Amino acid sequence: MQISAYIHDLAARFEAARLCYGHGTANPFDEAVYLVYSLLEIDFHVACDSLNRKLSETEFDLLEGQARRRISERRPVAYLVNRAWFAGFPFNADERALIPRSPIAELIVKDFAPLLKSPAQNVLDLCCGGGCIGLALALRWPHAQVMLADVSAQSLDLAWENVRLHGLQQRVKLCQADLFAGMDTRFELIVANPPYVPESEYAELAAEFGHEPRLGLISGNSGLDIPLRILRAAADFLTDRGILVMEVGYTAAALSARLPDVPFLWLQFDHGGDGVLALSREQLLRYRDRFN
Ligand SMILES: C[S@@+](CC[C@H](N)C(=O)[O-])C[C@H]1O[C@@H](n2cnc3c(N)ncnc32)[C@H](O)[C@@H]1O
Repeated sequence: MQISAYIHDLAARFEAARLCYGHGTANPFDEAVYLVYSLLEIDFHVACDSLNRKLSETEFDLLEGQARRRISERRPVAYLVNRAWFAGFPFNADERALIPRSPIAELIVKDFAPLLKSPAQNVLDLCCGGGCIGLALALRWPHAQVMLADVSAQSLDLAWENVRLHGLQQRVKLCQADLFAGMDTRFELIVANPPYVPESEYAELAAEFGHEPRLGLISGNSGLDIPLRILRAAADFLTDRGILVMEVGYTAAALSARLPDVPFLWLQFDHGGDGVLALSREQLLRYRDRFN
């Protein structure tokens, strides 16, 4: 079978199996391309239709083995191929951390303009998981010092692998902490993609999410526990003109309803996604008592 034909066939099987997307792709065809290109190590810039070469028997067996796991185990492709792409950069991915997919990638590619006039020198990626946000920033901003912080030792192990993958050991530090506990640095930019799924909704998530660490998803009864803790504390770890950018996803509505007088700046995205807010240190201080 030709590679391109295999991709189309696989996409049809994914569609029939009613898989859940959203762990790096948004539809069955892209999901099939992701699996096939990754396992065969094909450059993503090669158009599918130009892949007329026939699969070898070994290649076919390799692809079939993982395609079947995608369908029967509902395991996301990133965990099958151990690779995810974020803001244009490759990262190691496995079950130790959530699969990178935040719309914050788009802010990174735009260097956070117009929120920032120039690259921040000192950045905290809070709740970093495998480190994709902070490391993509370090790759774009060659003068930035970056701290990757997470409470999970397993996630930080993966993050360190990614630091080494990109040769960033000199500019990136890791910190294992419950949010800001024990930190004594101030940052120009804090970026956070914390857990924000309400405990009661976790069981309703598609099976694909069950392969990711619960710690990366659940945040108390309302989903707001960790975002509110970050809003309360962040001002103490920002420089005077510092900014917090935080994803709260679909919990944005609950946050706005609970804090109607806080002027959250909800960022807009050209490539999809929402629920990412920005607040200055000054605003975080002004509204601090509301975050209790
Ligand atoms: C939604 S994941 C985000 C991972 C990564 N930033 C990304 O965008 O792919 C949330 C992360 O928050 C971490 N986390 C959960 N509770 C935490 C806490 N109290 N302090 C620090 N990190 C926490 C989890 O271990 C997980 O890695």
